[in-house]
Amino acid sequence: MVTKDLFASEASPPDPAHVEQLRRALHEHAHRYYVLDEPTVPDAEYDRLFQELQAIEAQHPELVTPDSPTQRVGGRALDEFASVRHAVPMLSIRTETDTEASGAQNFDARVRRELGLDESAPAVEYVAEPKFDGLAMSLRYERGVLVQAATRGDGEVGEDVTQNIRTIGQIPLRLPAGVPDILEVRGEVYMRRDDFETLNERQRERGQKTFVNTRNAAAGAVRQLDPAIAAQRPLSFFAYGLGEVTPAQAGGPEFGTHYEMLQAVKLWGFPVSALVDIARGATKLIAYYETIGRQRDGLPFDIDGVVYKVNSLALQRRMGFVTREPRWAVAHKFPAQEQFTTVVGIEVQVGRTGKLTPVAKLAPVFVGGVTVTNATLHNEDEARRKDVRVGDTVIVRRAGDVIPEVVAVLPEKRLPDAKEFTMPRQCPVCGSAAVREEGEVDYRCTGGLFCSAQRKQAILHYAQRRAVEVEGLGEKLVDQLVDGNVIRTLPDLYRLGLTSLASLDRMADKSAQNIIEALEKSKHTTLPRFLFGLGIRHVGEATAKELARHFGSLDAVMDATLEQLLQVSDIGPIVALSVRTFFDQAHNREVVEQLRACGVTWQEGAPAPVTPKPLTGKTFVLTGTLPTLSRDEAKDLIEAAGGKVAGSVSKKTSYVVAGTEAGSKLDKAQELGVAVLDEAGLQALLAGSE
Ligand code: IVH
Repeated sequence: MVTKDLFASEASPPDPAHVEQLRRALHEHAHRYYVLDEPTVPDAEYDRLFQELQAIEAQHPELVTPDSPTQRVGGRALDEFASVRHAVPMLSIRTETDTEASGAQNFDARVRRELGLDESAPAVEYVAEPKFDGLAMSLRYERGVLVQAATRGDGEVGEDVTQNIRTIGQIPLRLPAGVPDILEVRGEVYMRRDDFETLNERQRERGQKTFVNTRNAAAGAVRQLDPAIAAQRPLSFFAYGLGEVTPAQAGGPEFGTHYEMLQAVKLWGFPVSALVDIARGATKLIAYYETIGRQRDGLPFDIDGVVYKVNSLALQRRMGFVTREPRWAVAHKFPAQEQFTTVVGIEVQVGRTGKLTPVAKLAPVFVGGVTVTNATLHNEDEARRKDVRVGDTVIVRRAGDVIPEVVAVLPEKRLPDAKEFTMPRQCPVCGSAAVREEGEVDYRCTGGLFCSAQRKQAILHYAQRRAVEVEGLGEKLVDQLVDGNVIRTLPDLYRLGLTSLASLDRMADKSAQNIIEALEKSKHTTLPRFLFGLGIRHVGEATAKELARHFGSLDAVMDATLEQLLQVSDIGPIVALSVRTFFDQAHNREVVEQLRACGVTWQEGAPAPVTPKPLTGKTFVLTGTLPTLSRDEAKDLIEAAGGKVAGSVSKKTSYVVAGTEAGSKLDKAQELGVAVLDEAGLQALLAGSE
């Protein structure tokens, strides 16, 4: 029986003006996004408009126009690059935005229906893959040599970006013997999160425009006309399919399944994600979606969903395409990592070294799996470049464990009287002058330890796990202690009594006792931890370890001249000066003496060279996820055994320790012939058995 409601919804024809408005908006957004790399709406909003248009057009095919955004896959080829006509069109994938299990169930049901499988037929076999958040690339090899790299463009015609793609270490320039004469490997060019952070940090330091997200950074690098600049923007690649390939009749390969094909592609030397898996039936698809969803934050690259593909190539051929989307694949999206919200205020926070950081206070918004209320604006220049103002509607993004960012402001939603942000010239906490030194991007409070914000940060820095570690001494407690004038300086911590602690608001006797015990425990520390804990500017953990190793005792570090400090490996003039300046200040020496008087101790050794350890003189680079050790643990073990851990691979690297999803560092190691170990290999070295 047909109900009245259904008639009602069919009876109202869509307003042609609305359809046109949707198309115009989509064209505009796509242009900004694909061509200008300056998106003005979150992806989720674009998807919503697109789907609304798609739904209307499906109901009313007479309204479809050849220039509708639904009739093309991506942005047009830019004029500056030569156009490339794809021998085999580059397809798009249907998007499933239902982020529940039903998203996967619906796809499986559709596949079974289209294949005419009834309930008794066995589960369909799929390949499940991450949906990488980069841009599609077709790599053409002729007789094993890379001859062309092309973007997707509109799916028929893309841009020739070979020059830029050649700079990607992960993409082979030449393939092993025996590959098909003609071979187009397709996949995603993307930027790893760590590379993205480094790039944006560098852009910020140079006062240049930062990138909104890894995809835009990757797209910007690929479209960079100067390959020298492109080369400085590290990109990565994952293969997920093929384009034109020498046919079987002419001696080309014959694959039965998508999975077999991926294994071959991997053997030919292309990165294929270790997360690719076979999944039988809807239940396994759902399990995959959930597993990858849980891993999403910890992955070294952004993904915006997973892709399901029918594994059998024969079945794929049977199912074919609708317009430009194969019926045998779907992209099942994860919840969005970008959302709209409004700026309710801009606060200036004071860090340990007095650095003032403007922070946008946001109306709470659920994005990337957490509720976000703050987003850093980094510094005055960055805040001005983004021109974020109180009352503005903004797009916030949170991906992985990365700090939430305001990626763009919607100028059309700005209130007429919104004022431009300016950095205060006085510390918002202590009122001391805030100054920006020449060549620096940051303003700093000149109040030093007079400033309670700096004192709090100094205490938190000292008490953190990787420094002297006072378990349970967190931000809230430090706020209470400093604001209530219970403590002023670091040594005051050790003078805290049970009664004064227990009398604090919301402090149970038991917790007070725990803090006292944690403080007692913290008295037995090591020289590197203590040095790091002092919070000397530019002295991070690694430098603290070097100083301790080189000088052997705290007194030797405190009395070292600039020349002596410069003898320490990895210490340059800026760090040396910072150490010297720190210990030249009477109040800092006083703090150190008082801490010692309170009973803080560590073992002091003779200056280097100390007893040889198994890894002395060896430099390691860690990449990917190790099966049992975290990064921190592996680093600790290596350093305890006398080795060093560096961030990038060079000829001086002794070993690269690689886990799953190892990235460009592994390729670099192979390129330079640096030895590669897995976790077991590292353990063997640590045990001194190799
Ligand atoms: S397969 C016939 N697999 O998503 C299907 N695409 O609109 C061709 N993408 O253009 C694409 N991860 O840029 C495929 N594992 C994956 C993918 C993937 C990301 C991108 C790709 C494509 C878009 C689909």
